[in-house]
Amino acid sequence: MLGLVTTPNGKAPMELREVPEPQPQRNEALVAVHAFSLNRGELRSIRNNGEGWIPGQDVAGVVLQQAADGSGPPVGSRVVALTDEFGWAQHVAVAGHRMAALPENVSFAQAAALPVAGLTALRTLRHGAPLLGKRVLITGAAGGVGTLAVQLAARSGARVTAVVGRAERAAGLRELGALEAIEGIDKAQGRFGLILESAGGASLTQAIKLVEAKGVVVVYGNSSGEPTTISFADFRGAPNSRVQSFSYFYSEAEDRFAPDLALLVSLIADGSLKPQIGAERSWRDFAAVAEQLRDQRVAGKAVLMVD
Ligand SMILES: NC(=O)c1ccc[n+]([C@@H]2O[C@H](COP(=O)([O-])OP(=O)(O)OC[C@H]3O[C@@H](n4cnc5c(N)ncnc54)[C@H](OP(=O)(O)O)[C@@H]3O)[C@@H](O)[C@H]2O)c1
Repeated sequence: MLGLVTTPNGKAPMELREVPEPQPQRNEALVAVHAFSLNRGELRSIRNNGEGWIPGQDVAGVVLQQAADGSGPPVGSRVVALTDEFGWAQHVAVAGHRMAALPENVSFAQAAALPVAGLTALRTLRHGAPLLGKRVLITGAAGGVGTLAVQLAARSGARVTAVVGRAERAAGLRELGALEAIEGIDKAQGRFGLILESAGGASLTQAIKLVEAKGVVVVYGNSSGEPTTISFADFRGAPNSRVQSFSYFYSEAEDRFAPDLALLVSLIADGSLKPQIGAERSWRDFAAVAEQLRDQRVAGKAVLMVD
């Protein structure tokens, strides 16, 4: 089979080449991958890994062989799945409890946009529950996680302020449910019960100034790569607020992956969640799409089709 493999010493950072077929464990199904999406974190992992590694966490495809322990959907099912790695290939082994069947009206491209970004959006928002009427500030709102978080928060009754870096990045965010889209977190007015913060550096400093008493700043990324200095005095205006770190793999119990993936695809199926696919290309165009994502030129998710 073919896989996209890291080649740090090659002409390009990734190369499409023949790789061995996966050998599923007892709890793993074999899935034929039709689409996968790229995550900003994976761009970093590619740089940090040596020769011959196949990345890939977000996949959508068809079950070729059900897990031997009977977990997960049966052979022939269209599925969305979350893997630790190895998903950017024609076939991948996936734990049965980390996949969900796709409703007929959900495409492979839409489903592939979901696992990492959708689970992160859903689960970071849970830190602010109940969201009905709550003011929620979302940084990186035009990105993969952000565009999903804006919709899920609005659907849950939150009043969403979406933060973008440049005016053109605000396009479409009101239609997704944001009450307002602002250019830079410095323009935010008032305080917020929940803040999803992924830019880091000065953005996190400002987020802490904007949280309300007993509110939560969920820190789930550091896209800027910049550190943040905080002190107790920063919380003076918001007693007992907290800064909550977040990692989607460990945020909830392992057996919650399948139900949460099923929830996300059901929201697409009923029309209340619309993954924003800012780039959809063949996996042969990986290099161009990765560059677009790195340069903050993808509105929403970048999806590659295994054609
Ligand atoms: N902890 C976890 O479990 C977890 C899970 C998923 C993602 N993450 C992290 O969360 C962040 C967002 O993920 P994503 O997939 O949504 O990424 P993405 O699609 O690349 O979106 C990132 C957004 O952040 C904004 N941003 C602000 N400052 C930035 C900077 N200096 N460099 C790059 N982007 C900047 C960009 O918006 P503007 O162009 O409008 O500024 C962009 O839309 C990433 O850092 C990712 O690694 C963490």
